[in-house]
Amino acid sequence: MSDQYSINPAGEQFPMPQPEDYKAEFVRLKRRVEKERKLGREIVVVMGIGFVGVVMAAIVADAVDKKGKSSKFVIGMQRPSTRSYWKIPMLNSGVSPVKAEDPEVEQIIQRCVIDKKTLIATFTYDVLDLADIVVVDVQCDYHKESLGNVRTGRAEMEVFEKSIAIIAEHIPPKALVLIETTVAPGTTEQVAYPLMKKIFKKRGIKSEPLLAHSYERVMPGRNYVASIRDFWRVCSGINKQAKTRVVKFLNEVLNTKKYPLTVMDRPIESETAKIVENSYRATILAFLDEWSLFSERNGVDLIKVIDAIKVRPTHSNMIFPGPGVGGYCLPKDGGLGVWAYKHILGFDDDIFRITPMAIDINDTRGLHAAQLTRDALRNMGKPIAAANIVVLGASYREDVGDTRYSGSEVLIRKLTEMGAEIHIHDPYVEHWWEFELQDSFPTPGQSKARFFRNQEKLKAVRIIHDLKKVLSDADAVVLAVRHEAYLNLNPDDLIKKIGHPAAIIDCFGILNDADIRRYYELGCEVKGLGRGHIHLIKQSVRKSHK
Ligand SMILES: NC(=O)c1ccc[n+]([C@@H]2O[C@H](COP(=O)([O-])OP(=O)(O)OC[C@H]3O[C@@H](n4cnc5c(N)ncnc54)[C@H](O)[C@@H]3O)[C@@H](O)[C@H]2O)c1
Repeated sequence: MSDQYSINPAGEQFPMPQPEDYKAEFVRLKRRVEKERKLGREIVVVMGIGFVGVVMAAIVADAVDKKGKSSKFVIGMQRPSTRSYWKIPMLNSGVSPVKAEDPEVEQIIQRCVIDKKTLIATFTYDVLDLADIVVVDVQCDYHKESLGNVRTGRAEMEVFEKSIAIIAEHIPPKALVLIETTVAPGTTEQVAYPLMKKIFKKRGIKSEPLLAHSYERVMPGRNYVASIRDFWRVCSGINKQAKTRVVKFLNEVLNTKKYPLTVMDRPIESETAKIVENSYRATILAFLDEWSLFSERNGVDLIKVIDAIKVRPTHSNMIFPGPGVGGYCLPKDGGLGVWAYKHILGFDDDIFRITPMAIDINDTRGLHAAQLTRDALRNMGKPIAAANIVVLGASYREDVGDTRYSGSEVLIRKLTEMGAEIHIHDPYVEHWWEFELQDSFPTPGQSKARFFRNQEKLKAVRIIHDLKKVLSDADAVVLAVRHEAYLNLNPDDLIKKIGHPAAIIDCFGILNDADIRRYYELGCEVKGLGRGHIHLIKQSVRKSHK
């Protein structure tokens, strides 16, 4: 990437701001804010316009008072790195920088930027000088040092701590700082508060920083916007005033009439709620891994087993884990909790067994999907080395363009290590930076490439959007994500596009029994995670063809 341009996923170039641009930008913002204040609007700065911040910013900008008038003016603030700067001009033109299946994302952004004129974006930290409320949506990563051992990792606090320090250096003393970032429990009171207090002291400010915490439960996908606006929230404040302010703010911008707030006594409770909530989810996914193997080895279709159990209302949240559990949250949040127990809260005994184990199981499930692919090819008499393998789905979940910690990445890395040639299709993803920029993405030294050999060629991998083109002459096709486009692929059409029988690997319970049967009739081999009944279908097809 050039230092002068920031390039968006569609390949458009945006010139980076130059030192002389900062002053002019602040003058522009100051004038605009004065105008907005005259209209009686509160000034909200959302720091970090990533997957969460951009939609949260739009929701706040869309809020109206009892008379139906816009009550907030929102400025999304993004640090101008070459990787992220493009989000600012894109948002300022009324176009969402995040891609999702939910049509409301584009609509709400366009409405607020173009029609209501209540949302803009900027690159200068000076905008914090003008804030009544700051919403913190920057990342707090968890760096893992080995594959399948979360305990050896650590919370990457630098970005978050730096963001809090910048806020404290700029904000008016009475501004409310709402931390939405998922943080290690204890962070608001034991990391952010002392940091802000120290900087306030240096600035000669005697009042207490008004810090609050309320975590996001956003689910990028079909209900992206509603999952923030029309959903229950947990919140808390560092003192009475902060608590009152955060409750007031959230009541003004979210649909709390229908989805009431839960107010906790202290930020550590709300921080812990987030970590336990996601560790619970990671655990119920991980425990199905052993039953998935059990099913594969004993002629059982785990998909049907889960459907049978889910009829019982007490068990209705059972979910099949697919080729691993990705997304930004579930692979890391439990790690933040385990790390905080030692490194923020000061204990040195080891009380955690289930939470790290669940993450480790989920992180390595993609390896098994790769083994199934190897075995399916072997059954067709093709060695995996140099086989053409098409992976359908790069995202971590259906109908979103987010590849963070996706199960497909581990699967592809393992297949590549075994020598396969990889071709990828995903309707929502333009570039898979985890491969293309693996020397520096997500940060230098953190790529999962370091856990495998033979990874260099993955830098050249590009996402292909034409299904027919990508499938042509494939030896194996891996159905890796439940994207809408893959749910009803017709076996005859698929094999026609490939041009000959192939190995079909179903990682997500996508194929029904009739499809599986048809693939065998067409001369293919089929395998699936948790789908042990496949070989019974195979036998029955073979018998009827004798
Ligand atoms: N993505 C989800 O589905 C989801 C769901 C629930 C909670 N969360 C939590 O929300 C938080 C944000 O997640 P995300 O998915 O939006 O991450 P993201 O990486 O997409 O966005 C973070 C943004 O903050 C920016 N940033 C970092 N430091 C900054 C600074 N000093 N000033 C301005 N901008 C800065 C980054 O450049 C980036 O654009 C995380 O803690 C995450 O765990 C995410």
